[in-house]
Amino acid sequence: MLNLDISGTLAKTITPSKGIPEQEFTTLKTRMKKYVEMWLKERNSGEHAWSMDPYDKRVIKQVEDVAAFAKAEKIRTVVWIGIGGSGLGPKVIQEYLEGPDTVEFILLDSLDPAILEMYMDIIDWKHALLVIASKSGETLEPMSLFFLCYERLKVARGEKAPKYTIACTDPHTGNLRSFALEEGIEIMPIPTKVGGRYSIFTPIGLLPMALLGGDIHQFIRGAKEMDTICQNPTMEENPAALLACTQFLLESKRGYLIRVIMPYSQRLESVARWDQQLIAESLGKNELHNPFPLAAIGTQDQHSLLQQWMQGPRQCWHLFIREVEKSHLPVPQDVEESFQYIAGKPFGELLDACYQGTSQALTDAKRPHATIELQRIDEYHLGQLFFLLLTEVVLLGKLYRIDPYGQPGVETGKKITKAILSGE
Ligand code: PA5
Repeated sequence: MLNLDISGTLAKTITPSKGIPEQEFTTLKTRMKKYVEMWLKERNSGEHAWSMDPYDKRVIKQVEDVAAFAKAEKIRTVVWIGIGGSGLGPKVIQEYLEGPDTVEFILLDSLDPAILEMYMDIIDWKHALLVIASKSGETLEPMSLFFLCYERLKVARGEKAPKYTIACTDPHTGNLRSFALEEGIEIMPIPTKVGGRYSIFTPIGLLPMALLGGDIHQFIRGAKEMDTICQNPTMEENPAALLACTQFLLESKRGYLIRVIMPYSQRLESVARWDQQLIAESLGKNELHNPFPLAAIGTQDQHSLLQQWMQGPRQCWHLFIREVEKSHLPVPQDVEESFQYIAGKPFGELLDACYQGTSQALTDAKRPHATIELQRIDEYHLGQLFFLLLTEVVLLGKLYRIDPYGQPGVETGKKITKAILSGE
């Protein structure tokens, strides 16, 4: 089970003026209890549709069928096209699962022509499965990339190209849906009421996991178990409520505007970028108050951003994410004399020491941090982590009185871009 430790944010750890006094949590408890109950009631009346995705057995079956098809057809490369929620979630899954024994997973979300030319040169379309993921089916980047790739696939596969193409999109509306229907391309549904950044438990997360040989049932199990825990109205027993309250109090009462999301694991780097998007697009809708997310990575950013976090303006707090069990690859015994202190030690121990060093240094500087610990990085714990962070955002929406769904600011830029390209 995933563990959340917020002790590094408390007044008793980093002094009353810099940390959260216990009574501030106590004051929020009743409000949070009400919000958890409200969220459950809203779910019962059909809101927060994403939270019901782990219970959709039909989608799980469809995902398994596509993965079986890919295996039977000896697919070697999955070309996944998607941006925002439709790309960041699959990237997390790729980082965790892709290896020498899996299919190659190429995620395209860039309009950089030089990068695209390189990919077009190396992809073997005769052994590729093309997945276009766009909830709206209207977004410029994925749709333009899709038309490029679909043309190449048609050259390789001829009229069979639709058979090797999947469209993850809204099953009821959108231009991608219409195109897929015309061409005979299989549609995998992202439910109409589930927005891109909330779609990790739809085919957006499940399909890459299944294609990369992961266990989607464990992923779903983790999500469901976390769902049960996050329904607890008692803050101390509900990690999503506790994390939301911690975030809210640090930002609104102590002036820590920036939430640094910093996994101490290379395989979780994209989780930070995924949560960054989730927080920014869901809550960045109020000029006065809302959390400002910043994705980072340990240990690399100790050598980049840590100086500022230690001695710069007191505006950042840290949410670390770490794996408890690690593999045992050691540093060789035979190292230069001045490095004897690391000789023969597992790299995992080095990583842990760096995490402890950074978190303790922040505490000594009276700067807050919290930590989410996953026993190990696997499908089950990832399912838990995603569900926790999604629920946290819903509860933050209630604390800040911000609707976490929709992203009107982003839409404005999209419209202007379209007008420019249309010569208007
Ligand atoms: O969270 C969101 O809704 C957005 O970030 C979308 O994921 C992003 O804009 C891409 O949209 P679409 O999946 O419709 O192509």
